[in-house]
Amino acid sequence: MKVTVIGQGYVGLVTSAGAAAWGHEVVGVERQEDRLRALLSGHVPFHEPSLGELVDLHLGDGRLRFTADSQGPVSASSLTFVAVGTVNADQEWETNTIRACLAEVVPHIPDDGAVVVRSTCPPDFIGQLPAYVDGLRRDAGREPIAVMLNPEFTKEGTAVQDFLTPDRVVIGVASDPKEHGVALLREFYAQVEAPVLVLSAMDAILAKLGANLFLATKISFANELAALCDLYGSQIERVIEGMAHDPRIGGSFLRAGIGFGGSCLPHQVTMTVREAAARGHETPLFAAVDDINLRQRLTFVDRIDALVDGVAGRRVALLGLTFKPHTDDLRAAPSLDIASMLIDRGASVVAFDPMETARRNAKAQVRRLIVVSSALEAVTDADVIALVTEWPEFVTLPWAQIASVVRQRIVIDGRNALDPDALLEAGFVYSSFGRGHRIPAELGVPAAPARAPEGTRMGIPIGAEFAVGDF
Ligand code: UGA
Repeated sequence: MKVTVIGQGYVGLVTSAGAAAWGHEVVGVERQEDRLRALLSGHVPFHEPSLGELVDLHLGDGRLRFTADSQGPVSASSLTFVAVGTVNADQEWETNTIRACLAEVVPHIPDDGAVVVRSTCPPDFIGQLPAYVDGLRRDAGREPIAVMLNPEFTKEGTAVQDFLTPDRVVIGVASDPKEHGVALLREFYAQVEAPVLVLSAMDAILAKLGANLFLATKISFANELAALCDLYGSQIERVIEGMAHDPRIGGSFLRAGIGFGGSCLPHQVTMTVREAAARGHETPLFAAVDDINLRQRLTFVDRIDALVDGVAGRRVALLGLTFKPHTDDLRAAPSLDIASMLIDRGASVVAFDPMETARRNAKAQVRRLIVVSSALEAVTDADVIALVTEWPEFVTLPWAQIASVVRQRIVIDGRNALDPDALLEAGFVYSSFGRGHRIPAELGVPAAPARAPEGTRMGIPIGAEFAVGDF
């Protein structure tokens, strides 16, 4: 079928390329000149594994093309997906762009076609959507069309695979006067084996937001549980393992650390709390999820401070800048806050990330951040190494070799991703979230962190015997 996708960002471009892979004839509309130029020359303007190959393939076989002009493609398409941004630079909802975009495309959609909102939007906007689109059609002297929602559940880093083999497809019906909108979307997803759920538009958007709120809640829950593990000298992974066999609980998305970043989870939690409050409704659980998440960054900085007995004048190596591995995305990345806080406390922060664009953008966003072009350069002469993003290449670093280039052998693992035994063997003090603070036996008891609970050192009861592997 003929499909137009408006907006070729993370969501739109994956939709375009994935739809072409299913055999649809796809036009991707992009207004940003740089991005369009990149796409026309077959270059994906951000890092997303296997997306470049898919785009190349279907530019080649003619199933996918890109343009700045929406009118022609939209008037020939059964489905027009809208995947433009809905969040501003301050991480607040911003619906002017999507309104303007709808105003441009809706008058040209064929009477038997449908407009499909793929962007994540605030519930209030979804409530207004059918009347808004109807008004645009009426003003253009045209018949009403189907107004549909089709929220995406793809993750950066695995977005192509998530799109092509989803665990569910959610279709939201905002208005479907001729009852063809659902049929068109079912045809679009004909090759998908997952359940297709047809919901009201408001149910669909709350299913989208609800999924992210729940994922965020799991992470903050894991982080609070990890703090208890540190308090009582327990191991978070073992604790989770002991819980996860209960099918009501499961073990996924419970990795403790510096908390969640990215363009979706942090913004959607914060905005849900704020928008509900604006309607006089409290959401104390989501507020706590947000709070715990931000607190993790501060805890990380406090621990670094304590581990080196004050970061002022110390050299801190930050390994990783992106909000998670396999992306070059820095939106709401914990690294940016962490680097800024450390620099404000007088540390010299030297960062490395495998993604060149992330390095460049982080340098532009964080004043006085030093960015280098290898992990080895970052850790050389470091007083403490802080793992921020669990890129595979950091997990397998040659710690014995690194031990000989650092000023102090201290590692703090913000993602619980490193092998504590390998670090201890190389002579490093190892600190983490919920895995205890492990020190090589020959070093004795380290200095207490700023926020160690009373009666403990580094979260470990005073008087406890320290030895490799004790914690
Ligand atoms: C998230 C959701 O996972 C997707 O399902 C959703 O489609 C997407 O938002 C969206 O709304 O578009 P994404 O932002 O790509 O996807 O990233 P996640 O994989 O969810 O990771 C978010 C953050 O949580 C990362 O910083 C990650 O490091 C952190 N995280 C994840 C943890 O701290 N612990 C975990 O156990 C898992």
